[in-house]
Amino acid sequence: MYQANSDRYQSMEYRRCGRSGLKLPAVSLGLWHNFGHIDSLENARNILRLAFDKGITHFDLANNYGPPPGAAEENFGKIFKDDFKPYRDELIISSKAGWGMWDGPYGDWGSKKYLVASLDQSLKRMGLEYVDIFYHHRPDPETPLEETMATLDLMVRQGKALYVGISSYMPAEAAKAIEILKSLGTPCLIHQPKYSMFDRWVEDGLLDVLGETGVGCIPFSPLAQGILTNKYLNGIPQGSRASSHRGNGAIEEDQVSADKINKVRQLNELAKERGQQLAHMALAWILKDPRITSVLIGVSRPEQVTDSLECLKNYNFTSEELSRINQILG
Ligand SMILES: NC(=O)c1ccc[n+]([C@@H]2O[C@H](COP(=O)([O-])OP(=O)(O)OC[C@H]3O[C@@H](n4cnc5c(N)ncnc54)[C@H](OP(=O)(O)O)[C@@H]3O)[C@@H](O)[C@H]2O)c1
Repeated sequence: MYQANSDRYQSMEYRRCGRSGLKLPAVSLGLWHNFGHIDSLENARNILRLAFDKGITHFDLANNYGPPPGAAEENFGKIFKDDFKPYRDELIISSKAGWGMWDGPYGDWGSKKYLVASLDQSLKRMGLEYVDIFYHHRPDPETPLEETMATLDLMVRQGKALYVGISSYMPAEAAKAIEILKSLGTPCLIHQPKYSMFDRWVEDGLLDVLGETGVGCIPFSPLAQGILTNKYLNGIPQGSRASSHRGNGAIEEDQVSADKINKVRQLNELAKERGQQLAHMALAWILKDPRITSVLIGVSRPEQVTDSLECLKNYNFTSEELSRINQILG
């Protein structure tokens, strides 16, 4: 029987999510990869136990995480039932819908028909009565934004989600979604965008929108799926994500380009000067902005949880360090 570490709240920092009442751990854990049916359930269990023992109270899922789609929620449901049920009120569990999940016109994008059915399925798979945060996973160019946002509002009113968020919405459409949700009386809690040293689009307006409207921000793939660590400096190691052909958006070998590795090498040197490893510096670089609520990591092994938390030891950068990083990234 799992007994959580009694010191779990001593070392973690908790940051307020926008202008809401909710705080999230500065580092949260996502279950996109490594929690499917092709993965070891024991490893998944060990990762989740260690994360919670370290004060990571937020686990992020989606309907399609696996493989196959739905598997991560099923596996999480098993582990939740065995290990985490007594701790339900100490956990923030999120899910999402918006990418293709089942055949036909009602299993993708942003209609009320899809989102309502998907959340019901997610709750069943995880064995939960409600999720803490439900996200629309990506903008839908065809469904009226009013319909998608009204569906998020409905979920909160039905008690199936406590808070709602949006993911991968561009600045103007995020602003519109935030406004609609506000008018419905269900404020948008949080935005989940892709953000790393290699993908800085959020700096071009989105962070300003979130800062001004009091919406939190939880960037995903902050290590560019592992490229912003020292693991690919000497080729592609066996067992790494790029070597695994997992599909569903996981990086492939050809994305670990010579140009990127050249930059990684220079960033690695700078990290050493700061007394950090590159992975720690890459996560710290995101946490330096007060508009960031939490950085959403993925891990393939429990040791990576412990290692990644080192980023909390120093997320201050001098202006000289920041301009060197900008120069390296070009
Ligand atoms: N909203 C969306 O559309 C969306 C999209 C993608 C992801 N997400 C969310 O974001 C979460 C994180 O995404 P991600 O997995 O791409 O994040 P990431 O942190 O950029 O990459 C995770 C990978 O980096 C490597 N890694 C992690 N910590 C390490 C460490 N300390 N040292 C060395 N290598 C380390 C591991 O690779 P190896 O496997 O090679 O060991 C791990 O699998 C997902 O689980 C999901 O919850 C959301």
